[in-house]
Amino acid sequence: MRDNKSRLSEGMNKKVLIFDCDPGIDDAIALAFFSGVIKQNKNNYDEYYIISTWGNVPLEKTLKNSIICKKIFDIPVQIVRGKDKSIRGDVIFAEKVHGKDGLGGYSEKYFEIAKEEKITDLKFFLDNLENQSSEIEIIATGPLSSTYDILSRKRLRERIQKVVWMGGAFFEDGNITPYAEFNSYCDPEGVEILIEFAKEKKCVYFVPLDSTKKTQIKRDDFLHILETVKNKKVREFISDITENAKVLILHDPLAVFAFFFPDLVKTFTSYAEVDKKAFRGRIYSIISPNQYLEVVYDFDRENFFRSLVSSLNSI
Ligand code: BDR
Ligand code: CA
Repeated sequence: MRDNKSRLSEGMNKKVLIFDCDPGIDDAIALAFFSGVIKQNKNNYDEYYIISTWGNVPLEKTLKNSIICKKIFDIPVQIVRGKDKSIRGDVIFAEKVHGKDGLGGYSEKYFEIAKEEKITDLKFFLDNLENQSSEIEIIATGPLSSTYDILSRKRLRERIQKVVWMGGAFFEDGNITPYAEFNSYCDPEGVEILIEFAKEKKCVYFVPLDSTKKTQIKRDDFLHILETVKNKKVREFISDITENAKVLILHDPLAVFAFFFPDLVKTFTSYAEVDKKAFRGRIYSIISPNQYLEVVYDFDRENFFRSLVSSLNSI
């Protein structure tokens, strides 16, 4: 990671971190993780943004859930209203996994705290960002429809230093079709543009099902680990939203871990393509040294849970 001095000498006056997500139960836990880590490393970035994108549930719900997470986890971010559909224009949701509201039926309980939040429009946000000279980094844990808009703007694209995205299935079956992972299926055009960007800059990490499936944990065991978290509100919220699940897969928190702790994940480099037609969202990949895409295939599980808990204690 470059320091402030080298950034300033290149004319980049700020460092901006964008979290593009579709909360979503595991997105919500990822946002808690994110909040704790940025508080532990608070000097690394100047500004933080959550772009709320359609995905697990429709946009208005992911937006509401992002606000709830911002308040519960005290995240120092501005919230941006992202895209409400795929680049192609269609949508499918994952309400069976996340509940109709995206938070396991609990968004109503936290509705009051979601009021009175100023939301920025995506176009306005990107226009403004274009007029700055900040470095940009992105964590994405949902369909890539909003990230597509960032990558489509040349003046933003050239300032992006790193993107970590939870998505894709490389050597695993899919979870929405036999071949495709959900985020990848939702917006393959977004995946394609991110792969194109990876070819240009070699600063893109995919965190696919191949590694996220290894985060699987029984809900009871997870709640047991969280007993050491001092913030009761945070503990209660996570317990609420996971109530209907016996087993959790922490897909999106692993993307946060890979972003902030790259030394604790294992990657291979890949030549990759995405299918946009018959096998929509399927990733075709050849592992080969010195390719352009970093793919996280494994990680230190003990460290993952230790970092997560330690972050929740920093909220
Ligand atoms: C991905 O799909 C969503 O349901 C999760 O939030 C995660 O981002 C896993 O396939
Ligand atoms: Ca997600």
